Amino acid sequence: MFTPKKMLAQKELQSSQKLFKSRCSQCHSLSQAYDVDSVLPSSWKETVKSMQRKSESNINDTEAQTIYEFLVYDTTKKQNKKLEQELQAIPKDQQQTEQAEIDRIKKLFS
Ligand code: HEC
Repeated sequence: MFTPKKMLAQKELQSSQKLFKSRCSQCHSLSQAYDVDSVLPSSWKETVKSMQRKSESNINDTEAQTIYEFLVYDTTKKQNKKLEQELQAIPKDQQQTEQAEIDRIKKLFS
């Protein structure tokens, strides 16, 4: 059964996903929005930032942050294997930074 906290987290996830779908499909398909070399949190941050910077991107800072968090969470659900492989391949200190961000974001949606 869902506790109220879980229901709120679920709503949060749904609205974040909605925002991702609306903002990231303005100029290309959503599948292109997933077409990245790296799914590390720092990489998603860069990807979202670079899209936000494009002219007429229509994405404000708050929205960029929400979309970034959605994408990191979504990665842990759908591309966790790739994420784990990438984490293994980077230096330990970077690994810890990325992992801390993953843990922070997982909590937001659970
Ligand atoms: C204003 C138009 C626009 C919006 C909005 C937009 N994109 Fe893009 N995107 C592009 C263009 C143009 C390209 C082609 C490559 C380039 O110019 O960087 C692209 C390419 C990409 C790529 C391919 C790899 C790369 O980095 O070039 C990814 C991934 C991507 N977009 C993700 C996203 C995500 C995630 C969002 C939502 C936050 C988004 N895009 C929103 C215009 C946009």
